[in-house]
Amino acid sequence: MSGQQSIGWAEVLPGHIPGVQVLDRLLATGWPGRDSAGRLSMPDLSADSGLMAEARLFLPHLTGADAGAGRAFLATELAEDGDGVRARLAFLRSAIRDVALHGDLILSDPEAFMDRAETFTLFDYSQARDTSAAALAATKPWVDYVSTLTRAEAPALVPLIDSPAGALVLEPGGNSGAFARALIPVVRPARHVVFDLPAVCALGEARGTAPGLTFAPGDMRRDDWRAVAGGAPDVVLFKSVLHDWPLEDAADLLARARAALAPGGRIIIAERRKFQGMTSGTAMDYANLVFAPFYRDPQTYIDMLAGFDLMITVTETRIDCGWFVLTARAVA
Ligand SMILES: C[S@@+](CC[C@H](N)C(=O)[O-])C[C@H]1O[C@@H](n2cnc3c(N)ncnc32)[C@H](O)[C@@H]1O
Repeated sequence: MSGQQSIGWAEVLPGHIPGVQVLDRLLATGWPGRDSAGRLSMPDLSADSGLMAEARLFLPHLTGADAGAGRAFLATELAEDGDGVRARLAFLRSAIRDVALHGDLILSDPEAFMDRAETFTLFDYSQARDTSAAALAATKPWVDYVSTLTRAEAPALVPLIDSPAGALVLEPGGNSGAFARALIPVVRPARHVVFDLPAVCALGEARGTAPGLTFAPGDMRRDDWRAVAGGAPDVVLFKSVLHDWPLEDAADLLARARAALAPGGRIIIAERRKFQGMTSGTAMDYANLVFAPFYRDPQTYIDMLAGFDLMITVTETRIDCGWFVLTARAVA
């Protein structure tokens, strides 16, 4: 860990339970924080009791004398994405709890695991069907969580997204627009339409504008995708969306995407690969483990796209685990 540039969640997140608990409590106090001049405020690391003593015990990589870059990273994340940081730690606590209590079921009986797991109560899409205060309140925690993950994933994924300049991009399940906001300055679309559930779109709109970014509230299983996009999309982008759906539904979404595409258009899929075990060495492994039964290898989507007259390429990368970006270009 030399410069601040190379520091991210992979370096900062602890890999064990007390570390997550102490980091969560520490961040809730505003630590490490910045003063009004933007300088990193230095806590009293010599304190030998209380929370800081626990932090020195369980988070030496963040409290040691040479851990300034990690603290600076956390201070920046808190300043720019405080709700996201808190959502990440809350989710990790839930995932760790679910793994401890019911982890034996994750791979052997995913349905039974989901019935018992606290983490799945968070992702209740049915509560996002309107924009009432209750719907927004129920939807915000998981929107904050997936948005903060996307914030960390985008630097690795955006360079792999081959979207022609001036394109009409439709992003079903584009959530708060976190990925769109990272992508737009790089690929410069004519328009990037985030197509998501009403409460999700409302929360995304509240995060502010970006050139060409629009939100289209609706239901991707039912609505007319060309009408939603305002034309035939040149690019249909699914980022971390298809794993949510059983095989048959995922195949149906891909068929809808193919039918909506403009001539010469492309479908782009960015997803975590099939779960490979606890490989990151950080607590993100627990967050990924609770979704382990749902992640698939690219071949599953290649098979679904067979017969659609598409040229398919796959690029792999590593973030918190193995990822791939699949690009399927219409031959004509
Ligand atoms: C796993 S999240 C991924 C969000 C985002 N793409 C990301 O990478 O973080 C799946 C997204 O699909 C959206 N979604 C679920 N059902 C939907 C539906 N029927 N129509 C439109 N969007 C839907 C959810 O609201 C959510 O934003």
